[in-house]
Amino acid sequence: MCNACKVNVADQDTATEQFAAELLDTLNRATLGLGLAIGHRTGLFDSMAAMNCWASSEEIAAASACNERYVREWLGAMVTGGVVAFDSEATTYFLPPHHAALLTRSAGSNNFARTFQFLAVMAEVETSIVDCFREGGGVPYERFTRFHEVMAEDSDGNVVEGLFTKILPMVDGLAERLEEGIDVMDIGCGSGHAMIALAKRFPNSRFVGRDLCEKPILAARRQADAEGLTNITFEVADVSERMGSDGYDLITAFDVIHDQRDPAAVLEVVQDALRPGGTFLMQDLQASSKLANNIDHALCPFLYMISTMHCMTVSLAQNGMGLGSVWGEELAVQMLGDAGFRDVTVQRLEHDIQNNWYVSMSG
Ligand SMILES: C[S@@+](CC[C@H](N)C(=O)[O-])C[C@H]1O[C@@H](n2cnc3c(N)ncnc32)[C@H](O)[C@@H]1O
Repeated sequence: MCNACKVNVADQDTATEQFAAELLDTLNRATLGLGLAIGHRTGLFDSMAAMNCWASSEEIAAASACNERYVREWLGAMVTGGVVAFDSEATTYFLPPHHAALLTRSAGSNNFARTFQFLAVMAEVETSIVDCFREGGGVPYERFTRFHEVMAEDSDGNVVEGLFTKILPMVDGLAERLEEGIDVMDIGCGSGHAMIALAKRFPNSRFVGRDLCEKPILAARRQADAEGLTNITFEVADVSERMGSDGYDLITAFDVIHDQRDPAAVLEVVQDALRPGGTFLMQDLQASSKLANNIDHALCPFLYMISTMHCMTVSLAQNGMGLGSVWGEELAVQMLGDAGFRDVTVQRLEHDIQNNWYVSMSG
């Protein structure tokens, strides 16, 4: 018996053949994933869904304002990858509605094609990551050209879509307090979509979004101005530094803590900045802190790789601790307790296998 893979040595040849088939499948699926992201970015999936009929590559290209030669080659990948149906007699293509339901902008949080954009985000820095494997250190935020843009789309699905119906109800009485008027801070707000949605819905409350990076803050300010919002500000700031204000009633951190240079310091700053009775609402990735418990996790290869190529490396680039995105629930609860939070609860949303929601009260 081989200890690593639990295979009888006598069955080695069969096991090698099976693994070769898995690797071939991985090669095809990984590259198909890049094609799904292109289908999203170019609007090809949206156009094909809107056409909702068999169409030639010329018609699909025209409907999407794309070059036909590229569209035809891409369709080759989509057909052989089982995404698009093909009529070889008529040379026409069709995106079945049950596939469109998972690949188009109108699918909202069910749009998988949007998530595949993270593959290209990671691939952009691959050479630098390989260098880090030899030399240590990390790749800083500014080296990821599209990270904040892709993250904002991800946040629209994972946070904004369920904000009022699923997320606010996790905290007793929160919607009512927001209605009356409270002070809210979102740390690591990125492009600020969640705060903007809240500021629109609750004009009596005051909102601040802070992020280390200027690019998403400028995008957030532009959107808030365009919406004519006067109860929200966005600031470029490092949230591991003391907040220097009268305090906040609600602090949120959507997918932020594991990226931090010094996550324990940030949690202490948050605890310190909350008014008595204040709430900390933290979204972070759903996993165990123990690798052994993650073996059957449906998303863990993705989570560990996005950690290696983004979340962990941006922290290490700041000489940080490099906690990584799979820091896990056990450690998260422990660190919240260590920072002085009380009544920590962990909640999950139905059908969301990616996120945990931690609700904590100021100590
Ligand atoms: C994974 S992104 C999440 C962005 C946003 N919350 C969302 O859900 O779209 C993490 C964000 O934290 C920001 N960030 C990381 N460290 C920070 C720090 N020390 N101070 C402020 N922002 C920070 C990054 O720039 C990035 O926008």
